[in-house]
Amino acid sequence: AAERTLILFKPDAVQRRLCGRLLTRIEERGLKIVGLKMLQVTPELSREHYAEHVEKPFYPQLEEFITSAPVIALCVEGPEAIQVMRGMMGKTNGRESAPGTIRGDYGVSRQMNLIHGSDGPEAAAREIGIYFSDSELFDYDPTL
Ligand code: CMP
Repeated sequence: AAERTLILFKPDAVQRRLCGRLLTRIEERGLKIVGLKMLQVTPELSREHYAEHVEKPFYPQLEEFITSAPVIALCVEGPEAIQVMRGMMGKTNGRESAPGTIRGDYGVSRQMNLIHGSDGPEAAAREIGIYFSDSELFDYDPTL
């Protein structure tokens, strides 16, 4: 069954001009882009998105980073899209992520790790609702 997940191309991906490559990987894998926008994450939005991390010691740095430049938010759909995207992203810490994954190919940072993907169905539903309204999500035939 098709599943949706919320993906962010983080400020480092935008600043390093890697968004095209990341989008190409997602499209070539066969996943469907059903929503896409560029936006500036505000401190308020960061606290909402990262609600489970707000009390953690690394949160101030995380907020500083995620608000430091625009991000590109995507809603991606496909069979088991949440796990498929997590596999493509690699481990959180770029130093531990395998070659062939997005983080393993483009970074060695734990914080500036290029991409965010929802970690489960509940997070996906919550995060998609934070970044997209219903009218910004599109249902279309993915074949020509
Ligand atoms: P993300 O998948 O966006 O979810 C939370 C983010 O917090 C994570 O990616 C990392 O960028 C960041 N993060 C997680 N753990 C740490 C940590 N120990 N120190 C700094 N940043 C972290």
